Amino acid sequence: MEKPWSGRFSEETDEFVEEFTESISFDRELALEDIEQDIAHVKTLQKAGVLTEEEAQRIIEALEGIRKDIEGGRFEWRRSLEDVHMNIEAELIKRLGDLGGKLHTGRSRNDQITTDERLYLKREIGSLIHLLKELRKSLVRLAQNTVDVVLPAYTHLQRAQPIRLAHYFLSFREAFLKDTERFLDCYRRVDELTLGSGAVAGVDFPLDRHHTAELLGFNKLVRNSVYATADRDFIAEFLFACALTGMHLSRLSEDLIIWASEEFGYVDLPDKLCTGSSIMPQKKNPDLLELIRGKTGRLYGNLISILTTLKGLPTAYNRDLQEDKEPLFDSVRTLKGSLIGMRKILEGLKVREQRMVSNAGNFVLITDVANYLVQKGVPFRKAHHVTGSIVGYLIEKGKRLEEITLQELKSFSELFEEDVFELFKPEVVADRRKTYGGTSKEEVFRMLEVAKREEGLSQM
Ligand code: ARG
Repeated sequence: MEKPWSGRFSEETDEFVEEFTESISFDRELALEDIEQDIAHVKTLQKAGVLTEEEAQRIIEALEGIRKDIEGGRFEWRRSLEDVHMNIEAELIKRLGDLGGKLHTGRSRNDQITTDERLYLKREIGSLIHLLKELRKSLVRLAQNTVDVVLPAYTHLQRAQPIRLAHYFLSFREAFLKDTERFLDCYRRVDELTLGSGAVAGVDFPLDRHHTAELLGFNKLVRNSVYATADRDFIAEFLFACALTGMHLSRLSEDLIIWASEEFGYVDLPDKLCTGSSIMPQKKNPDLLELIRGKTGRLYGNLISILTTLKGLPTAYNRDLQEDKEPLFDSVRTLKGSLIGMRKILEGLKVREQRMVSNAGNFVLITDVANYLVQKGVPFRKAHHVTGSIVGYLIEKGKRLEEITLQELKSFSELFEEDVFELFKPEVVADRRKTYGGTSKEEVFRMLEVAKREEGLSQM
């Protein structure tokens, strides 16, 4: 098949090169965006007096026809035509003859490709933001039902201090909210039109780029044609936002995988979201969570891939930039799947409250015993040491904190009185943390109300 650019060449493209350089196998994902911008471009060409109204009309009709064929799966994509842009243009020329050859006036694939990508990303960021919101809502619903569940918070994966389970769920809601903000912020920079920048220097037809932007729903124009054709920053930052969201999903997965183990037994995962072992009949494996965790590697890989591709390119367009698409599409697909999977898990999660609270006592309460002494005037460092000795003593005796007698306590410090035993309840200790953002019941309720309001769940 003859290439649109074959004029200056005296031999056919090497088969291998054709295969190696093609992008149609993946950039056809942008086909509908490409047609959308073709139509806007045609209208702008008409406004500039480059096309007559009749010509523009005929081209647009033919493009609509091609769109239908693509949507109906009837379009025949040709590798020899390299990419999505040339496939569609060649088909237009096939249908309209010379008139079709006018479509690419005042345009280059260099400004065309990022216009497609930006249209695509605007839509996909919208879907991701929606999925993030749904996930946050699931977390808020879980929080609503778990204010009274106390479990040990872990630091270094060692039992640390009692917290309310709702506080934990709201912490992830917070992380996913920041992720959402990052996508929204990224969206602002994606929402700029590159078309009309030409190959690098701008266009020598009087194209009204503001008009094109309006037709395509872009908020702004990319202001510099060299930057417009060289830039893939918007993809890099999008992939970063995906990577970070993936990291949060991965951590949450990790917690739940650990919590679902027999050793912890803090949660039960729904059967329908788990898989069995081909050899060990007793197994119920959290594969969905493991894959959400595992796929984070891809999200990181895609980010590193684009950053590496961009580094050291001479200004402006280079074919290296074609390598931006597979990581982009892969991250969109991967993250969407992970967000949906996590929401399913959260919606089916069963909390085993008893297991949690039974681990939230004993030495998890000891910080507050130290603070008990502090309130009686002992410097914190000293109180820390004294209560540390109590822990050592109890470990040696094989006793729990709750089993210690006042007499034993007094042998460590005369300041201990009967009222210290009030501290031996996880719930009481949790409620002492009344600082803004802390785990006391009042604070958790306050945070929950804020979250519900922000998510539009106030009626809950
Ligand atoms: N398929 C190309 C890409 O994705 C489109 C732009 C090609 N421009 C060029 N001058 N070869 O980057």
